[in-house]
Amino acid sequence: MRRKLLLGNWKMNKTVTEAKEFALNAKELGKLARQNKVDMGVCVPYICLAPVKKILKTSLIVGAENCHELDHGAYTGEISIPMLKDIGISWCIIGHSERRTYYGETSEACNKKLIALLNNGLIPVYCCGESLETYEKGETKAFVEEQIRTGFKDISEEDASKVVIAYEPIWSIGTGKNASKEIAEDICSFIRSIIKDLYGSKVSNRIRILYGGSVKPNNIKEYLTQKDIDGALVGGASLDVNSYKELLTNLL
Ligand code: 13P
Repeated sequence: MRRKLLLGNWKMNKTVTEAKEFALNAKELGKLARQNKVDMGVCVPYICLAPVKKILKTSLIVGAENCHELDHGAYTGEISIPMLKDIGISWCIIGHSERRTYYGETSEACNKKLIALLNNGLIPVYCCGESLETYEKGETKAFVEEQIRTGFKDISEEDASKVVIAYEPIWSIGTGKNASKEIAEDICSFIRSIIKDLYGSKVSNRIRILYGGSVKPNNIKEYLTQKDIDGALVGGASLDVNSYKELLTNLL
């Protein structure tokens, strides 16, 4: 049985003061999540990681939104995996469509980051998903397949099952136009079939696949009751502590 996973992605939102307030109010939620066998957490801006982790400790997952693949060096403005590990961070989003679109991150670059995270014992949340143009041309599956195959290049069977995949169609992110549960399930099931082709059914049955894109408290259950959707990666609705709580209570 795959455990359900609910992750917030704050993107470039919240000051440290606001993040600490959220963490104090969300602290108790970890117990409810655990009682119901749900893994739950937030991925937050670099500057908020240490203060949020200090408050939440192990009650909720605290993850980064990106990292550099090298341990150290002359890369102004970047954050390395050892820096994340040093403050107790063990999860990290990779290849979010906003990073691919605005910062030119390719699946090849994401692959290097996935390998570096896995070598350091961190859990990558690898994002994939197509643009509206690709969707309208009916090329979603070919596009996502390339993102998965390239992203997982040279990753061992043992490591592959530790990765979490998030399918986030770009046209549904922050637009309120969420993909229907049928579309989301179709693509998540397709992603699982690619993992099966690459690693066999043991890995494909274990790997967790999330849907993301305008997930709200009132629609989360539709997604989470699909066979191949194991959780959600949530932007806007994870910023307010009350709707963050509702995301959990509404899926139980
Ligand atoms: P929204 O939930 O705001 O659509 O964002 C989704 C997302 O990009 C999560 O990574």
